[in-house]
Amino acid sequence: MALEEKIRQLEEYNRLAELGGGEDRIRKQHEAGRKTARERLLDLLDPNTFVEVDKFMTHRTTDFDMDKQKFLGDGVVTGYGKIDGRLVYVFAQDFTVFGGSLSRANADKIVKIMDLAVKMGAPVIGLNDSGGARIQEGVESLAGYADIFYRNVMSSGVIPQISAILGPCAGGAVYSPAITDFILMVKETSYMFVTGPDVIKAVTHEEVTKEELGGAMTHNSKSGVAHLMADDDTQAMMMLRELMSYLPSNNMEDPPVKACTDNPLREDESLDTIVPDDPNKPYDMHEIIGRVVDDKNFFEIQPYYAKNIIIGFARLGGRPVGIVANQPSVLAGVLDIDSSIKAARFVRFCDAFNIPLVTFEDVPGFLPGTVQEYGGIIKHGAKLLYAFAEATVPKITVITRKAYGGAYDVMSSKHIGADVNLAYPTAEIAVMGPEGAVNIIYKNKLNSEEERKAAIDDYRKRFASPYKAAALGYIDEIIYPRQTRRKLIEALEMTQNKVLNNPSKKHGNIPL
Ligand code: HXC
Repeated sequence: MALEEKIRQLEEYNRLAELGGGEDRIRKQHEAGRKTARERLLDLLDPNTFVEVDKFMTHRTTDFDMDKQKFLGDGVVTGYGKIDGRLVYVFAQDFTVFGGSLSRANADKIVKIMDLAVKMGAPVIGLNDSGGARIQEGVESLAGYADIFYRNVMSSGVIPQISAILGPCAGGAVYSPAITDFILMVKETSYMFVTGPDVIKAVTHEEVTKEELGGAMTHNSKSGVAHLMADDDTQAMMMLRELMSYLPSNNMEDPPVKACTDNPLREDESLDTIVPDDPNKPYDMHEIIGRVVDDKNFFEIQPYYAKNIIIGFARLGGRPVGIVANQPSVLAGVLDIDSSIKAARFVRFCDAFNIPLVTFEDVPGFLPGTVQEYGGIIKHGAKLLYAFAEATVPKITVITRKAYGGAYDVMSSKHIGADVNLAYPTAEIAVMGPEGAVNIIYKNKLNSEEERKAAIDDYRKRFASPYKAAALGYIDEIIYPRQTRRKLIEALEMTQNKVLNNPSKKHGNIPL
């Protein structure tokens, strides 16, 4: 073959590979409101940085006449590129080829880039859009999934792993995203479930639509499986880029510091009056977070789920931090099963990837009731306690109002290893709220409503303040709320070179 012909052959191979399942299927994909794998990668990565790997790989099955149906690349586009100049590994399932289903060859491509990612210490982002196991390949496909799951587990805590669900993701296929650190879903075009509506109808006679069962809103608000939700594919890729800006490339790196144009000494007088006088009146903790962090920029994770706790990323003086905050405007900021699990997983992510933790605390305690007790609030609340205690990253806590009971201990208290504990003058640190405390310690001893009120008042004055805790050194400083930003930035600078090694062990036994 002449040289020119060889070049033409390569051009033809490239053209075919880039065409995926063909123009008709690409049109169908667009009509369904979804972009193709390659279009998504163009949106995700810095321009001209994508390097494709195994572009010409094909499946090796002969069953079901599959040898007559081969597509270059076999339904997944894999490789590496850059986000804000930093290396990331990517795979994007191509629904136009056999519905993006996972063949042995397809899994081999994903496994290859996952192995490279761990070796080079860079994140993996998976763009999922697949009909699941390649039915024609049977157990070879299942083996491919298991190879991916195994690598998901081995890479966990070593490199960030992010999943976007941009179409179907059903059956056992859901377990790879489930092991990764964050799942983003797109409204109306993506869904995840272990068994679909038809199987459910046959087994339990329950009727449910795909969207209700496993759509983006379901997993963002009800199940807590997903962490982020985008309106469409384009916004999804932008959100992934933003998420990556807070994360280090691997667990040996610090998160990337951004030049800070927001004055670190900036004071905000409105913070002095943000916590209401009336201890039972709610306020929105987002208001405090927004006024304190760089450029009011808070990237919230799981904003629709267990809203009584807020988690997310922000920067302080240019440095990424993970924020965990009780939300007094939802269920009074109480800790329950869902909020404990939500925050615990986030704390562990931040700890694994060297992201300092900033905790804003206003918590009346754990939610009472049989639903919570039967549901295992004991073991689930313990997850958050365990996660905070185990975390060795800098831990800074600000108590804005209530820090009652066990929840005081759990929410990154000095006693479980927080480095800097600050309190607003409005803080109330006690075993329980004044009403509950008086009911117990003066049971049958108070003769009138006036006496009860006087006892509550007395308790509030003596215990519902930060001064007792400050006198004991459990609170390092009672701060002027307007200075929260500078105090946090000072604390972050002070703790920057923190070294703390927990006892060596195979692994702990977090109550799962
Ligand atoms: C092979 C598949 C496929 C699959 C879809 N296709 N899923 N090919 N294996 N699993 C092919 C179709 O034959 C079709 O090919 C093309 O992809 C597009 O599929 P459509 O059905 O036309 O698309 P749509 O109507 O959008 O429906 C998408 C779908 C549906 C909901 C995903 O295709 C579907 O239900 N697929 C099967 C899902 C499934 O049961 N997977 C196995 C799950 S078990 P043509 O040539 O016509 O374009 C599993 C186990 C994992 O995944 C275990 C891990 C432990």
